[in-house]
Amino acid sequence: MRTHYCAELNENDVGKEIEISGWVNSYRDHGGVIFIDLRDKSGIIQLVCDPVDNADAHKIANQVRDEFVLLAKGKIRPRGEGLENPKLKTGKIEVVIDYLHIENRSLPLPFAMHDSNVNEEIKLKYRYIELRHKKSYETFKLRSKAAIAARNFLDENGFLEVETPILTKSTPEGARDYLVPSRVHATEFYALPQSPQLFKQLLMVSGFDRYFQIAKCFRDEDLRADRQPEFTQIDVEMSFCDDEEVMKTAEGLIKSIFSACGHEIETNFQRLSHREAMEGYGSDKPDLRYDLKMIDVIDIFAKSTNAIFADIAKTPKTNRIKALKVPNGDNFFSRKMLKELESFVTKFGAKGLGYFQVKEDGLKGPLVKFFSEDDLNELKTRADLSVGDIIFFGAGDKKRVFDYMGRLRIEIANRMDLIDKDKFEFLWVVDFPMFEVEDGKIKALHHPFTMPRDMNKEHLEDIESIAYDIVLNGVELGGGSIRIHKQDMQEKVFELMGIDEEESQEKFGFLLDALQYGAPPHGGFAIGFDRLIMLLTKTSSIRDVIAFPKTQRAQCLLAKAPNVVELEQLRELHIRAKKPEESK
Ligand code: AMO
Repeated sequence: MRTHYCAELNENDVGKEIEISGWVNSYRDHGGVIFIDLRDKSGIIQLVCDPVDNADAHKIANQVRDEFVLLAKGKIRPRGEGLENPKLKTGKIEVVIDYLHIENRSLPLPFAMHDSNVNEEIKLKYRYIELRHKKSYETFKLRSKAAIAARNFLDENGFLEVETPILTKSTPEGARDYLVPSRVHATEFYALPQSPQLFKQLLMVSGFDRYFQIAKCFRDEDLRADRQPEFTQIDVEMSFCDDEEVMKTAEGLIKSIFSACGHEIETNFQRLSHREAMEGYGSDKPDLRYDLKMIDVIDIFAKSTNAIFADIAKTPKTNRIKALKVPNGDNFFSRKMLKELESFVTKFGAKGLGYFQVKEDGLKGPLVKFFSEDDLNELKTRADLSVGDIIFFGAGDKKRVFDYMGRLRIEIANRMDLIDKDKFEFLWVVDFPMFEVEDGKIKALHHPFTMPRDMNKEHLEDIESIAYDIVLNGVELGGGSIRIHKQDMQEKVFELMGIDEEESQEKFGFLLDALQYGAPPHGGFAIGFDRLIMLLTKTSSIRDVIAFPKTQRAQCLLAKAPNVVELEQLRELHIRAKKPEESK
């Protein structure tokens, strides 16, 4: 139905008879001559329907409205002096129409495509209209290029693309599962995979050596700007390799994807241990595009005459007193802004926000009176303070201090506009603790199939795992690990986590069995593909890069899912549904 795409035409085509098709982007009647901007995926071109050229086509043009679907034939001519539109790629030419056909009509759109203030729910309900926007098309073009680049890189490096089941059993990523009831097996359920983790390990036991999949994953967890209930991973696993080899592969993969999307990046990403990341930036995914780093000042505060600080400083194992120097911060932050920063951190559990301002005549601020001259000087030297700087403090339980000081760091960077938005700052976070204690329960920080570096430690919390996370601009982009490939080690880890044999058999028996049939050493990683595209397109929401995303409440407003189903369907599934209020 076309000889060309609209925006592929240019001055070199003048005089050509062409056929094009697309949507009416806009139309206007200028004294009897109708101008239509026709749009397809390539862009826009101007059609001219003059009754003098063709009376029939002009009659049809009179009926045209926004978003009608047209088929058109005509001849390219230059627009003429003073009539060119430099904003359009095709702005030097137009099509003189001698045939026009309305292939389909459109209701008036529920929102203007270019209006950025439209309610999110309306946009999601009519997502196909939002996707007509050129920006959306560009996003999905890039997403497609990135997926193809990933496939090509992995194919060239000996990886085999294998699909793993969607109807399966609970996998170990630690979120809540989406369950699917079985009709054939009354009262039994499948779980949708949180990741292909166990199956990709099984493929290594099968000797496939190198696997990948652009895999759909499902997690029923609280949604945020960078989380969706169903999302996509570039999932990779390889055999007979160490962590360095896996990380090198991940870097090569990322480099080739970025290159296909027009960005050349350096590999050999910098590395921080999990401990360095937490102590220096209060986060296991620090944004290193700006140079704000916390330092330890617990020893200086221990000597202060303030009883609260002195008390906190008595337990350096579980408490921290951290200082965050902000160069030029005293010149920047007004009293009102300091108050705002204080209420910001109190939202995250801080009791207040202490600070020293660096003035010509020394350190100033409400806390100064608690410190000796020597200690203030020590602080000045340690933090390398200069006049005009400000230094903030956080004191208390280390988890809490890391959290709010880490957030404060980001807040300050945003307020002071310290972030270079054009930068891609990659980072590996390595040497994670193998276990964490949550609500008195020992959990694996990555997942329980991660290889510990050395199990012979006196304290459980000192055991590290061979795991690594990829961070890009403060977002966790991916993660992986070397896996346990020996049954006795796996059992030992389960034992430490308080998972007994019955439970481990019940949950992961098929993997434990497989480990007894010649499992090779193996490891891998998964990159959050949606997050990668989110960062590449510099949007702040993952929803912009997913064609049909879910809302914050995990609904698809377009298809209206989830929805109530027929009683008969439930009966077949041996299920009786009750609303929460009916269960009370
Ligand atoms: P992990 O759970 O760290 O590891 O997930 C890997 C990456 O997937 C992305 N991701 C998400 N993206 C969007 N919405 C979500 N709800 C969501 N959850 C995770 C993140 C994350 O870094 N099987 C292991 C990988 C391995 O060990 O090989 C796994 O799934 O970018």
